[in-house]
Amino acid sequence: MKLDVVFSPAGLTSAEVQGRTVFVIDILRATTSMCAALSHGAKAIIPVASTEEALRLAQTIGSTDVLLAGEKSCLPIPGFPLGNSPLEMTESVVRGKTLVVTTTNGTKALLACQGAAVVYPAAAANLTVAAEKAREVLERDKDVVIVCAGRDGEFALDDAYCAGRLVAAALGSRKPRRWFNDAALASLDLVRRYGEGWERPLLRSRAGRELARLGFRDDVTDAARVDAYPVLAHFHDRRVTRPQVAA
Ligand code: MLT
Repeated sequence: MKLDVVFSPAGLTSAEVQGRTVFVIDILRATTSMCAALSHGAKAIIPVASTEEALRLAQTIGSTDVLLAGEKSCLPIPGFPLGNSPLEMTESVVRGKTLVVTTTNGTKALLACQGAAVVYPAAAANLTVAAEKAREVLERDKDVVIVCAGRDGEFALDDAYCAGRLVAAALGSRKPRRWFNDAALASLDLVRRYGEGWERPLLRSRAGRELARLGFRDDVTDAARVDAYPVLAHFHDRRVTRPQVAA
């Protein structure tokens, strides 16, 4: 059994995720926005790698129930009805829709983990349900990998802090074990360093500073809200959906 945190998907090999339970974090803002959309009734989210692919796929599906969403350099993509803000994912906009989403780091991180047994997008927005799932998997003696989307292939403070909070919440009062990798231990150190308030590390990160500069300060505040959109959705068969609850 192992608990690994990976600070960036750059260089992630399929062997590192193969057959494992993976949580992907892009707290600013892709995985937060996905949680917001699904908790407000979006039917599915299809992450894709580029604007061109998003346009192609939307055309192939050819339904009025498809909405294009995402960002490039943090800004909405011209012609796309939705950007990448969790605050845009309101019920009146997303209910019953399938969102085709492309973002700089978040969607690519999800796509990089496709060989995993199961992939869950995670953020502060769904911290408790994600931590419960991680704990349940570890208690079954199975591996958990937390993949931070990072920024342009590098470490990102916002995602690493969120990873630490997820590890801490999954552990409860238990101590970190020797089967934790060093990045998992370092992410816990970040939680100790910044304490309980989420906004400080988020605003300190490059992504947070950039979003604030571009006028998306409220998105950072929203992304810092623990359990704001408490949905545990899985990325399976190219789509992020809420697993069906047995009747
Ligand atoms: C990303 O995928 O890099 C982020 O979600 C960027 C953003 O939200 O602006």
